[in-house]
Amino acid sequence: CGIVGYIGHRDAYPVIIKGLQRLEYRGYDSAGIALFDGEQINLSKTKGKVDDLKARSEKEISLAGHLGIGHTRWATHGVPNDCNAHPHTSNSGNLVIIHNGIIENYEAIKKELVKRGYSFESDTDTEVLVNLIEEVKSKENVKLGKAVQIALNQVVGAYAIAVFDRSKPDEIVVAKLGSPLAIGVGDDEFFIASDASPFIEYTNNAVYLEDEEMAVVRLGKEIKLRKIKDDSIAYPLVQELQLNLEAIEKGGYEHFMLKEIYEQPHAIKDTFRGRLRADQGLIRMAGIDQNLERFLNANRIIIVACGTSWHAGLVAEYIFEDLARIPVEVEYASEFRYRNPVISDKDVLIAISQSGETADTLAAIKLAKERGAFVFGVCNVVGSSIARETHAGAYTHAGPEIGVASTKAFTTQITVLTLMALKLAKASGTLSESRLHEMLSELEGIPAKVEKALESNALIEIISDVYKDSTNCLYLGRGYNFPVALEGALKLKEISYIHAEGYPAAEMKHGPIALIDEQMPVIVIATRRGHYEKVVSNIQEIKSRKGKIIAIVTEGDEQVRDLADHVIEVPESSESLSPLLTTIPLQLLSYHIAVMRGCNVDQPRNLAKSVTVE
Ligand code: G6P
Repeated sequence: CGIVGYIGHRDAYPVIIKGLQRLEYRGYDSAGIALFDGEQINLSKTKGKVDDLKARSEKEISLAGHLGIGHTRWATHGVPNDCNAHPHTSNSGNLVIIHNGIIENYEAIKKELVKRGYSFESDTDTEVLVNLIEEVKSKENVKLGKAVQIALNQVVGAYAIAVFDRSKPDEIVVAKLGSPLAIGVGDDEFFIASDASPFIEYTNNAVYLEDEEMAVVRLGKEIKLRKIKDDSIAYPLVQELQLNLEAIEKGGYEHFMLKEIYEQPHAIKDTFRGRLRADQGLIRMAGIDQNLERFLNANRIIIVACGTSWHAGLVAEYIFEDLARIPVEVEYASEFRYRNPVISDKDVLIAISQSGETADTLAAIKLAKERGAFVFGVCNVVGSSIARETHAGAYTHAGPEIGVASTKAFTTQITVLTLMALKLAKASGTLSESRLHEMLSELEGIPAKVEKALESNALIEIISDVYKDSTNCLYLGRGYNFPVALEGALKLKEISYIHAEGYPAAEMKHGPIALIDEQMPVIVIATRRGHYEKVVSNIQEIKSRKGKIIAIVTEGDEQVRDLADHVIEVPESSESLSPLLTTIPLQLLSYHIAVMRGCNVDQPRNLAKSVTVE
């Protein structure tokens, strides 16, 4: 979910609506807004997107007020409908709240509140929280800030909240545990949001709350942070924001996803910047330099991640084992955290996350830290929770990724992980100097090759038109390109709603081959280096069962061209770096198919970009 709040001299409404649109990547099942003009609280909520909310509120409520809060939701408790949408109001109508996260013990609290005469309109945990705050406030006879603090000490779960009180028109109380919350500090005005994107055109100064911190944001006062548990006070660090507006707008592209696909040559270059000196055989990465011994003495590396980032982790397994000769395990963060894993202080855990906020990944980090492992983060969002929770890390520097289906985050994650593996290979001597130099200069040339791979766009559009009505799709790859097959299938599922499966090409004969008939498109990654002949045999097997073959091949390939129905070329590369190229046509294929099917590419149904609940 995404939350936005404003208090100051401007009209709150446009600030909040625009802010919610920027945060829609965090969830878009339903949305709502509450505006306070000093007398009246006007509330509007709706199932659907922020545009629906805009239409409804402009028709139905007064938009006046210099204080407001808004929410865009990814449903956890209760179906996405008007009533479950946030903000939620307390029984007296005096307190209004927005909440991102989950209150786990809400049922027990709800029972107590019902006994005391409270009633509930929605199925949400959030409505329970706002009434708990109200109950504390009246029972203890305290001000809003104190009531929030006492109430939060009674709840178990995760939250980023913003709440205001009808009797305090110049104040919003915020608190955070587990879900992100930033305060933009302007000239006698404050902005509150899940990330800084809603307020970058108004101020460059932001305060990021740490877990278990809260603040009473009051006009005319400096921000003071308070620990929720022991009431201790901290003066916050005001950070200067580095985001720019252009980076979060579409810049002429029809969709963010397409823009982000095309940004990849540049994004990969940004990932190298200041790190790679191929001519000198150098890789500079402070997070590794300062902890080199931890890596070199590691028994093994455990990689945890979710979704696309997990696929980057699988590619990294090949890279680290192949080049740096360190054993690697890759785990879904959600499985790892709950299976009582064997972890020692000789282990290094690498957490990969675009957003740096994924709840399961964050929990896996905490578990590994408790058990003594050294934890390294690979994140895109600077200052994110995972970036702060890890011992050290390396940013991908891909720039904001807004499309829910991850593209440039994936290729830049692979880039960072490749740099790491090469750096470790150099330090441990597992790669000869000459091979290292070769690989570094090849890596430096990758952005130009990605550019070349993007030139197949028009051809891919034609191929997409042929297969856009398929109901199933199979993606096959071997070695380094097996995870790419998984990622290709995930991209198609996510945005076009076509069922797709990724498989190691050789495993096909142990099951999926039963699905192949003349209706079944099979996308095969068959680049020249790495098991080429074996993949060609797999293609023969598909062909003899009349499957339709779309092959991703190396420039100039003849053999596969004779067998496949369609070929898409990518430039020549070593096997280790080929995922950075073979991924590109798969991203474009799913993009065009989804567009042709009329799907909402940037905001596919049921998904959210940043999953801050487990
Ligand atoms: C969500 C997104 C995916 C993403 C995954 C992990 O499911 O829709 O695109 O890969 O979360 O997110 P992270 O931010 O941790 O990389």
